[in-house]
Amino acid sequence: MYDALRTTDEAPVRAISQLLPARPVTGLDIGCGTGRYTRLLPGLLPAGSRLIAADASAAMLAQLRAAQRGHAAGVVPLLAAAEALPLRAASLDVITAFNSVHHFALGRFLAAAAAVLAPGGQLFLYTRTPRQNARTIWGRYFPGFTEHEQRLHSQAALCDAIRRTGRLTVAATQTFAHTRTSTAERLRAQAEGCHYSTFSLYPAQELRAAIAAFLARLPGPEVSWVDEHLLLVAGRSRSEPRRPGQPPSPANGDQAPGPQERRTPVSERRSRPTPDRQMPHLSAAPGASSGSVEHHGA
Ligand SMILES: C[S@@+](CC[C@H](N)C(=O)[O-])C[C@H]1O[C@@H](n2cnc3c(N)ncnc32)[C@H](O)[C@@H]1O
Repeated sequence: MYDALRTTDEAPVRAISQLLPARPVTGLDIGCGTGRYTRLLPGLLPAGSRLIAADASAAMLAQLRAAQRGHAAGVVPLLAAAEALPLRAASLDVITAFNSVHHFALGRFLAAAAAVLAPGGQLFLYTRTPRQNARTIWGRYFPGFTEHEQRLHSQAALCDAIRRTGRLTVAATQTFAHTRTSTAERLRAQAEGCHYSTFSLYPAQELRAAIAAFLARLPGPEVSWVDEHLLLVAGRSRSEPRRPGQPPSPANGDQAPGPQERRTPVSERRSRPTPDRQMPHLSAAPGASSGSVEHHGA
């Protein structure tokens, strides 16, 4: 039901795969839900890569397990909160979060991500900003949609929170624009099925009235619009952050990186041989059973 009502965008997954090193990686898809994006990743990751699919909801993971039966070999489901990842420090090359970062306690999640990423590892956040949300079909026509949805982070807020970790650096941002076409009937089903968790924030009676008003406001029985998303890429620095009182030096200057911390061009990274790492030890594994790219200073 959840998957049937959602549109999965392959472009950001392809963009992510282009930024990965050309060797097997160990990755985590956090807030994986039913695994819509997790399932796309193995086909695009370098051969031999391994992926953990983590979510705080056992129900979502159960759907992921059911859907991956016989598929997605190498994907390990894990029941875990984004803010307390039960993974070994510095054990991951890649973390992805698709449409989920606004569900997390941002500062605690980023600190947890920085801890489990290996030096040089990458964090990919695919999300909608409040402005992008306001331009969706829901933001434009659905009463109260932007007012109810207060969890989304602006690009500036995400970049600021990433810098404040002292261990992650914003490397690039990319905006994706997806043309959508739908019918009033399908949109109604999506609102009634709580396609976005925003709909769950409405009291039942208000939601019913909002759906009726939305359908009446739509320009016709078939509508087209453009959905935009932000892909933000952050890199785990290769050195530890400076402690208070410690003088700046090239070895720990995360905010003002020395030459050894500059982003390696994608073409070089994909061909650079790097030693393999083992699957990170899970210290608790209850669930184990077309856009423009902007490069940011490192
Ligand atoms: C909108 S869904 C996105 C799911 C999937 N990534 C996708 O795009 O289809 C958000 C997911 O985040 C999960 N979630 C919410 N809070 C979480 C947390 N603190 N830690 C881990 N997962 C969380 C929810 O259970 C849900 O599956």
